[in-house]
Amino acid sequence: MINQSKIEELNKIAKQMVTPGKGLLAADESMNTVGKRFSAISLENTEDNRRSFREMLLTAPGEGQYISGVILFDETIKQKTGSGKSFVEVLKEEGILPGIKVDQGLVDFGTAGEKTTKGLEGLAGRLSEYAALGAKFCKWRAVITIGQGMPTDENIRQNAKDLAAYALECQKAGLVPMVEPEVLLDGNHTIQQCEVASEKILTALFEEIKNKAVALEGLILKTNMVLPGKDSGVKVMPEEVAEATLRVFKKVLPNSLAGIAFLSGGQGEQEATANLNAMHLAGSLPWPITFSYARALQDGATKAWQGKPENLSVAQNVFLHRAKMNSLASLGKYSTDMEKDFNVSEAESVSQD
Ligand code: 13P
Repeated sequence: MINQSKIEELNKIAKQMVTPGKGLLAADESMNTVGKRFSAISLENTEDNRRSFREMLLTAPGEGQYISGVILFDETIKQKTGSGKSFVEVLKEEGILPGIKVDQGLVDFGTAGEKTTKGLEGLAGRLSEYAALGAKFCKWRAVITIGQGMPTDENIRQNAKDLAAYALECQKAGLVPMVEPEVLLDGNHTIQQCEVASEKILTALFEEIKNKAVALEGLILKTNMVLPGKDSGVKVMPEEVAEATLRVFKKVLPNSLAGIAFLSGGQGEQEATANLNAMHLAGSLPWPITFSYARALQDGATKAWQGKPENLSVAQNVFLHRAKMNSLASLGKYSTDMEKDFNVSEAESVSQD
């Protein structure tokens, strides 16, 4: 059991993570995943390029207006800007909470392609190291695959147990756990299949969270929106996405959960923004709901940057625009017209001022 004064501390951090009008940037891609992003811009995957990439994202001027927290990777939480200031310090100066991914990636579960997540071994030691480096919250990602006979009940249960065990360790260490069960967008499944899978994993997860007495006031759920599979060829309107997603949330999630932040999961940038906005047009909700995107906040900025120092401020303006659009969407105040007011050539003229 977590004691009451610790729960109050955790609740303060969790509330700050989901401050109205702000959301989170996931900048915690593994080296392998960064390599994929860099190959799209023909950039070599070196430590220095990864550092410059993260510097571009973390030093965008004034991003603290839109961003409440940033999830860092093990390498990134220990890195510094070119001028020698630690990234943790940079974030603190913007009033942004530093967070850290603490899982150690996916491993096979059975033979059909399902996965569980490793990283429970030695977790307590890593958490105290990250807390000493200034981290305030953590992330652990589990993936659920929809396919022939999947997800299995065994895979759902194992992922739920591991997420709950991780969450309890974080709270003991004074760090807010983000629990991230992600029903993958890959595949040709229907939106209904995604709804069923999402309901199953969230039900199991909150059962395990209750079994372990994880404090809901100090817990953030990061999860997928309910969507049809990427290869299904089916496009659904934001209202339908919001309706299906909120139906699951209202059925399964306890009201005392501190907040919810969506992953983007492979949606386009504007799609992820419009879908988030629709969640806030469907009436009042018991929890703050915001964004915690990686690709849907970074893709345009990465393309504008291309790894070239001369593109830094253009790329940062692209990033700030996206962050602002998502900030508005987290309040239900976004409209696609707002995208017309901004394009990369405008970003260029802003950056030359
Ligand atoms: P995407 O927004 O690119 O899905 O990434 C979010 C994330 O943190 C995945 O773990």
